[in-house]
Amino acid sequence: MKLPSSPRAPSSPHSRISPFLLPSILVAAVICLLVAFPNNDLKLQEVFGGSSSSACASNAGPTPSDDTAVDLRVLIGVVTVPGAYERRALLRLAYSLQPRPVRAVVDVRFVFCDVAKEEDRILVALEVIAHGDILVLNCTENMNDGKTYDYFAAVPRLFGAAPYDYVGKTDDDTYYRLAALAESLRGKARRDAYHGMVIPCHGPPETQYMAGFGYIVSWDVAQWISDTPELRDDRVEVEDVDFGRWLRKGGRYKNVYAEQPRMYDYLDREMQGADATCNRHEHTADAVGVHKLKDRLKWARTLHFFNATQGLKPSKMYHLDLQNVYRV
Ligand SMILES: *[C@@H]1O[C@H](CO)[C@@H](O)[C@H](O)[C@H]1NC(C)=O
Ligand SMILES: *[C@@H]1O[C@H](CO)[C@@H](O)[C@H](O)[C@H]1NC(C)=O
Repeated sequence: MKLPSSPRAPSSPHSRISPFLLPSILVAAVICLLVAFPNNDLKLQEVFGGSSSSACASNAGPTPSDDTAVDLRVLIGVVTVPGAYERRALLRLAYSLQPRPVRAVVDVRFVFCDVAKEEDRILVALEVIAHGDILVLNCTENMNDGKTYDYFAAVPRLFGAAPYDYVGKTDDDTYYRLAALAESLRGKARRDAYHGMVIPCHGPPETQYMAGFGYIVSWDVAQWISDTPELRDDRVEVEDVDFGRWLRKGGRYKNVYAEQPRMYDYLDREMQGADATCNRHEHTADAVGVHKLKDRLKWARTLHFFNATQGLKPSKMYHLDLQNVYRV
């Protein structure tokens, strides 16, 4: 493929783009569009550094040909509470430093029921201005009081104009690896899909459901939840158990994808009295989602394991010893 050369300098080597360069330009253009967060320029600067971000800055938005390159769109709602400011900062940092998913968009949003306290109303408003990644439902902030229902029911209403392929829910002590997740979802059914870490891992099958730390359904399932308001009061157990039961009852428990061992609870050698089980083990390089990142140390070790620290450039401005730290 050759671009028409300029009539003024027909034989100049600079007037046409080398056919060998073109694929890499297209790849760069696609990467530029695959930013999971709304304030693209800021994130691109963080992820790719100055030169790449300036190359991306000229991209005003997706053009039709670029749209066709993306064949998978996922929304992940991190269910949390307004007061968890530090955790949100950590999650934004963690997700912004991940490699971009290939040909996929994974939007990560923080989900609250309501924002009641005066300081939260003001500070959350500032976060919305700065990051634009917060979704406030109309429910009362309470564990197991319909928040899961309200979230999945709200998504088709809010995003129906541009539906996602999949909608997921996760906790703020979970770290999804978005590129691995996208690669895992790409070949899967886009109807009646239910993806996560199934528990109890050894059955019985009729009692199994996806652990609440992270599960994903296809858009049609979210739409069905939204269209079936009686589910909100159909509560027997904790919400995530009920969720599996709803799908069975509604004939939607069809394309069930148990992602273990690529989704698991965190384990490291220094944890006293904790052994590996069918859903808890040390980090593996192919992980899709890791749960029970309850404190900063577990987050730090996790991000280091997944090479988030590799972007650190040598400088006389700091000395951070990354050699003498825990390695799985
Ligand atoms: C919450 O309720 C308000 C007022 O009825 C409505 O405008 C808004 O869209 C609702 N939000 C969600 C996420 O459903
Ligand atoms: C991190 O980087 C090292 C060195 O490049 C590599 O050997 C390792 O597989 C990477 N780890 C993961 C989880 O990708």
